[in-house]
Amino acid sequence: MPTRPYVIDRMISAKTIAARVEDLAREIQTAFAGTDKLIVVGLLRGSFVFIADLVRELDLPVEVDFLEASSYGNNMESSREVRILKDLRGEIAGRDVLVVEDIVDTGFTLNHVVNLLKTRNPRTLKTIALLDKPSRREIDIRADWIGFEIPDEFVVGYGIDFAQRNRNLPYIGKVRFTD
Ligand code: IMP
Ligand code: MG
Repeated sequence: MPTRPYVIDRMISAKTIAARVEDLAREIQTAFAGTDKLIVVGLLRGSFVFIADLVRELDLPVEVDFLEASSYGNNMESSREVRILKDLRGEIAGRDVLVVEDIVDTGFTLNHVVNLLKTRNPRTLKTIALLDKPSRREIDIRADWIGFEIPDEFVVGYGIDFAQRNRNLPYIGKVRFTD
């Protein structure tokens, strides 16, 4: 539960997100056309809304799996130490893997997950992030597809939380403290 009073200022509308997800799905569909080995891997919990919308725009044979990596806890600062809290259920050797992340911030989480999954010998490994905060990057990594580049703001909504709240907002907003 958040401990300071705050309001949420709207940043990206549900309509704008939906249009962008459609565009991204079209690009992914082209990139993975012809494969029947695609596994879309959502990073819990922040990507659950994004992955749900994204896969429903894909007219491809697709499997879905999830992986949970620790990140912020109840903090607004990245821990920089990434742990796997929940691993994939399925094997990815020889498969085409698309990792779906909510936000790339310092880059530690995506970097850790990509390195881990590479050791399991997928045929290909690509990444997509709904949001990218390039100004915060500490590790040189970039997702293959990015929904929106955003400035250094703490955002919530469309699956993304502040201390586990606000994931249910249909839009993306930024947190502004009022105390
Ligand atoms: P990184 O390891 O620093 O790149 O952090 C990535 C993770 O931190 C994301 O998967 C999010 O869960 C979380 N995160 C980063 N920025 C924000 C934010 O603005 N709001 C909520 N969570 C965030
Ligand atoms: Mg996350």
